[in-house]
Amino acid sequence: MTPTIDELNGTPCKTYLVIAGGEAALVDPLRDRLDTYRAELARRGVALRWVIDTHTHADHLMLTRDAKAALGAPFVMHTASPSPLVDRHVSDGDALALGGASLAVIATPGHTPDSMCLVTGGALLSGDTVLIGGSGRTDFPGGDAGAQYDAVTTRLFTLPEGTIVYPGHDYKGRATTTIGDERRHSARYAGRTRDEYVALMASLDLPMPDKVQLALQVNQSGFEPEEVGFPRVEEAAALAEITPAELAARLGGDAPPVLLDVREPEEFVGELGHVEGSLLVPLDALARRMPKLLGYADREIVVVCRAGARSATAGAILERAGFRDIKNLAGGVLAWRASGGPVCR
Ligand SMILES: [Fe+2]
Repeated sequence: MTPTIDELNGTPCKTYLVIAGGEAALVDPLRDRLDTYRAELARRGVALRWVIDTHTHADHLMLTRDAKAALGAPFVMHTASPSPLVDRHVSDGDALALGGASLAVIATPGHTPDSMCLVTGGALLSGDTVLIGGSGRTDFPGGDAGAQYDAVTTRLFTLPEGTIVYPGHDYKGRATTTIGDERRHSARYAGRTRDEYVALMASLDLPMPDKVQLALQVNQSGFEPEEVGFPRVEEAAALAEITPAELAARLGGDAPPVLLDVREPEEFVGELGHVEGSLLVPLDALARRMPKLLGYADREIVVVCRAGARSATAGAILERAGFRDIKNLAGGVLAWRASGGPVCR
């Protein structure tokens, strides 16, 4: 079965409604347009099966807990997503069933670590990985131009030439492109080696979009600014880091650091588990619990979350409160586990 794919926003920032067999997937929704999407679902008489983000966006606000509940369908993102709101994490090679069709996941890290594309019935939802004649920028936190080049050239450009590409953005009013056109004519990728592509992306020097700080912190954490009191992104980015290997060595040594896990309680005891001995103080409870935490202000503290984004925010909040020795576990519990670190639940 071949799904239908429609763009719902009519703006440079694209949201797609994919429909097959009476079921729908909403891809990259904008938080302030949920009423439009619900009206569209009702008008077409289809049931919303999945809400999917192709990556952690920096240019618009993603779903909140309430918005997700109002849509009433599971929220899907790649495993590398830092968000605590994701109901189903998917990886390269996974497929999401949709009314007799399926959406196949291709991991395409580069624009962000959690970028992915979806293939269904001769179409590719390319997120910000392949744009029409272009590619998503790779200068946001966690961006990697080399990884993006590899994913695009080995995974996307090897799809059938006629595959119709639905990009996450277009600033010139265009709707789609094809894999063949992009492979042959993309102003970014065509005719460039990996090194040339990396050099090109490093030379772009693009301005930061409006409110990038707010959007990233909200989208990475699932919290509103007033719930957390976000520090500036530069403060969070300046935090010292510790690798999983370094942490493992330190935990086995004489003076182990205090581990402070800032995820949600259900994540702490959930599928990923936590590093043994961790204190749990969710990010949005940090300010409230500060009086008690101040007893640790002179200790070395390693802040921990799923992917290292919320913990960077938490670490910056703690430094601002006077804590003297804060380190962020690089890559979070995902990286800890990937390096063979033990967890408990
Ligand atoms: Fe993006």
